[in-house]
Amino acid sequence: MLGAVAVNDRRDLFLEAMASLASGVAVITARKPDGQPCGLAATSVVSYSAHPPSLLASISHASRCHDALASSDRFGVHILRADEIDLAEVFAGKGDDKFSGVDWGWDGDVPELGGTLAYLRCRRAESLPKYDHTVLIGDIEDGRLETGEPLLYARRRMDWLLRLEVQ
Ligand SMILES: Cc1cc2nc3c(=O)[nH]c(=O)nc-3n(C[C@H](O)[C@H](O)[C@H](O)COP(=O)(O)O)c2cc1C
Repeated sequence: MLGAVAVNDRRDLFLEAMASLASGVAVITARKPDGQPCGLAATSVVSYSAHPPSLLASISHASRCHDALASSDRFGVHILRADEIDLAEVFAGKGDDKFSGVDWGWDGDVPELGGTLAYLRCRRAESLPKYDHTVLIGDIEDGRLETGEPLLYARRRMDWLLRLEVQ
């Protein structure tokens, strides 16, 4: 096979190729059956359809938010701003109370974070379990937009804009 970068196997090839695919960073939230909010950082959010406006996200079965997201009628998608790396790290982690110290409130039964570049309240149109993830399709019901630049994730880093600014 041609290729300037050596890879050991198919998994390596996949992981390295995906690390080259730059994406935005989102926090996806839902209400658990016990009434508590849950949320995780996700780069799998992509635009799905314009008619109706809908998005797609892929949630690991290992996420503690998985069951709530796969069964709730609604979930929230927050697209993060470049200066919200700390928020991304909280929701990428395994803290027991990710919401303490975070500005948030209920939008009906969806936890809505303050700030962020965009908030989209989605109605779950589909959840498709396959392999170790569940694909969610969410129809956009409502939301809001703020000003700013997006947080970008590529090559396993979240500080791309900061790095470009110092060059
Ligand atoms: C940049 C980044 C992107 C991520 N994207 C996803 C994703 O799309 N889907 C997913 O299930 N987990 C994703 N994760 C992992 C979860 O955020 C992480 O496992 C988190 O601890 C899950 O929290 P929970 O168990 O409280 O739900 C991502 C992590 C990072 C750092």
